[in-house]
Amino acid sequence: MLFSKFLLQAVPSLLPLLALVTAKQYKYIIPGADLLDEDGVLIQAHGGQIVRDGSKFYWFGEDHSPGGTHFTGISCYSSNDLYNWKNEGHAFSPVPGTQLASDQVGERPKVVYSPEIDKWVMYIHADNTSYGLHLQAMALADKVKGPYALQAIYNPLGQASQDMGLFLDDDGSAYSLYGSGGNNDITILTPDFTNQSRIVFQFSGTNLEAPGMLHSKGLYYHFFSEKTGYRPNDAQYFTASAISGPWSARKQLTPSGTFTYESQNTFDLKIAGTKNTTFIFMGDRWDQDELSDSRYMWQPLVLDEETGAAEIVWHDVWTVDVETGEVGFPQGVEYEAQAGTLSGGATVVACGGCSEGLLVTNITQSSSVTVSGVLGQNKPQWIALYYVNPDDQLINGLQRLANVSVNGGAPVILKQRTTAVNVTMSIPFEAYLEKGAVNNITVTGTSAGPAADFDRLVVYPYTL
Ligand SMILES: *[C@@H]1O[C@H](CO)[C@@H](O)[C@H](O)[C@H]1NC(C)=O
Ligand SMILES: *[C@@H]1O[C@H](CO)[C@@H](O)[C@H](O)[C@H]1NC(C)=O
Ligand SMILES: *[C@@H]1O[C@H](CO)[C@@H](O)[C@H](O)[C@H]1NC(C)=O
Ligand SMILES: *[C@@H]1O[C@H](CO)[C@@H](O)[C@H](O)[C@H]1NC(C)=O
Ligand SMILES: *[C@@H]1O[C@H](CO)[C@@H](O)[C@H](O)[C@H]1NC(C)=O
Ligand SMILES: *[C@@H]1O[C@H](CO)[C@@H](O)[C@H](O)[C@H]1NC(C)=O
Ligand SMILES: *[C@@H]1O[C@H](CO)[C@@H](O)[C@H](O)[C@H]1NC(C)=O
Repeated sequence: MLFSKFLLQAVPSLLPLLALVTAKQYKYIIPGADLLDEDGVLIQAHGGQIVRDGSKFYWFGEDHSPGGTHFTGISCYSSNDLYNWKNEGHAFSPVPGTQLASDQVGERPKVVYSPEIDKWVMYIHADNTSYGLHLQAMALADKVKGPYALQAIYNPLGQASQDMGLFLDDDGSAYSLYGSGGNNDITILTPDFTNQSRIVFQFSGTNLEAPGMLHSKGLYYHFFSEKTGYRPNDAQYFTASAISGPWSARKQLTPSGTFTYESQNTFDLKIAGTKNTTFIFMGDRWDQDELSDSRYMWQPLVLDEETGAAEIVWHDVWTVDVETGEVGFPQGVEYEAQAGTLSGGATVVACGGCSEGLLVTNITQSSSVTVSGVLGQNKPQWIALYYVNPDDQLINGLQRLANVSVNGGAPVILKQRTTAVNVTMSIPFEAYLEKGAVNNITVTGTSAGPAADFDRLVVYPYTL
């Protein structure tokens, strides 16, 4: 983080000093941010899913906290607004002597409420460390938060089950979605949701990962990623007017080069509000070199049920009203990198996909760009750094690193994942900005190498 927790607080000045340790408040969804829970700890809920129980949302996921075991447990966080999350502890803990012991694999938890037995049902992909078993585990709980008690671990319908998703349809039936020996299966769960009944559709030979599904106005969308493990790739989807098919030809969700904005689908969340129904693509931005620092990439999906097209339009920050279902896109103020002060070997060059057609390249540890006159509100504000990183991930690694300092303060290191030539992406960071058009933001490289090429900054308003 760029600033100490102390500086990040939005604290009314009259409160006693103790109030300074209260949690920060998020007012936006910030895809790719270093997302902290209400205790100020990085949220660990990877490969997860969200369910709503009454007015509260519960987010389940894999806990990859540093110092954990191979399978540390399934975490649970709760929220009223999808922005601020309280750690509710582990909903499911490793069970010694089973395929979900702490030295095994437990991934992609999915949870559904079963009205028939009045219990919450959790499914987990259980495996050994070389992924040779392809099992599903089923666990039950009386309360949404758990604890979930393991009931069974099995190969569903005798078949292999790899990456797993769960889909609850509007008619109350639930489906299991999983990769199975090169195919992708959709099975309908038994009426009590504790077992599988039968395969309702099989995508033959597709061999895709990370399944997720939504149902909007009579059309089903089935999302996947290519099979590349933790390496991000362009998300794929199919559409159909019935779950049993026929399903459309395969389509690509996001522009080539963005690799689904460096993420992999884990769940597609429906927010049915009083004024609108919004679907949120929940992606994991896995960092295989530092799994605990994998980020979350959530964006609203843009759907066209007439044509069956689905799209993610990138937003640095956005809002969703969980009561009305409406989304909002705050306006930021833009500052071009090439308008900044360049030092060392930093150079302005043409870039087809960049704002004003220009970016600054060759930003090394001994060169820099300082953007001045940045308007601030005397508050912590979210800033999006737009960059181009045309590296090949397989050769140069997942990301470049930018070393960013605001008004000469302690530097923050931002991970700039790969894009492609002339393709920009942004990475968010939060910084305290002084009041007025007085702030200076300096970007340099690090000892690890040059930063990505720098296109622009977009500074978002602080909101109460
Ligand atoms: C995982 O299970 C498969 C199938 O039984 C087996 O071949 C493989 O050796 C196991 N891997 C480990 C690490 O135990
Ligand atoms: C699930 O159903 C199958 C039959 O389709 C049965 O063999 C198996 O025991 C059931 N599993 C559980 C956990 O009930
Ligand atoms: C309403 O939802 C649709 C799709 O679910 C979305 O494209 C649109 O932006 C939403 N509008 C508002 C105001 O929330
Ligand atoms: C890049 O910057 C370094 C100094 O940081 C300089 O030595 C080098 O000549 C520059 N390269 C180009 C291509 O401008
Ligand atoms: C990138 O943009 C520059 C400037 O517009 C253009 O000259 C170049 O051909 C583009 N390269 C690619 C691979 O699109
Ligand atoms: C930004 O840089 C200018 C020029 O060096 C300086 O006068 C100003 O005080 C700096 N602003 C802040 C907030 O430090
Ligand atoms: C980031 O920049 C600061 C100030 O120039 C420097 O002290 C620090 O070593 C840099 N960090 C890395 C990782 O290179």
